[in-house]
Amino acid sequence: MNKPLSSTATVSVNCIVNGQPVTCSAMADTPLLLVLRNDLHLNGPKFGCGLGECGACTVIVDAKAARSCVLPLSGVANRNVTTLEGLGDRHHPHPVQQAFIDAQAAQCGYCLNGMIMTTKALLDRNPDPSEEQIRRALSANLCRCGTHLEILAAVRRAAQLYREGHGND
Ligand code: FES
Repeated sequence: MNKPLSSTATVSVNCIVNGQPVTCSAMADTPLLLVLRNDLHLNGPKFGCGLGECGACTVIVDAKAARSCVLPLSGVANRNVTTLEGLGDRHHPHPVQQAFIDAQAAQCGYCLNGMIMTTKALLDRNPDPSEEQIRRALSANLCRCGTHLEILAAVRRAAQLYREGHGND
């Protein structure tokens, strides 16, 4: 009979992170967020609440936005994980990043990476979302500075860029 995996058992997990195959070793229930930040030095996903409530840690797992603070490492075995670092950079920002720059949708900026990842996941599956769909998709990403109106404008701008064919730039 198989023994249940103890939370203290170390596992090696193969997955693809930002297009690169990686093997991560940690206790099976270690939050993906900690592995990304501490072992892979990917600081795009932020630690906010650690409870799956704020969205600061959002990454994309197999095309869906996911809260990496409550997703155990074992949950991404053989899956594709994309962090902010897998999008653009300051010289070649991804269209969603460009839209957030255009809309000046930042105050302290702590929530933005999660907002951007959630927006990308939304627009990759629906480049022409309604206002209600935008608000629903972003409803669980919290901004403590209160820049939600600018963020909504950024998402609308990003959707426009997608519709103009820049989604894969
Ligand atoms: Fe993950 Fe808040 S840090 S949802």
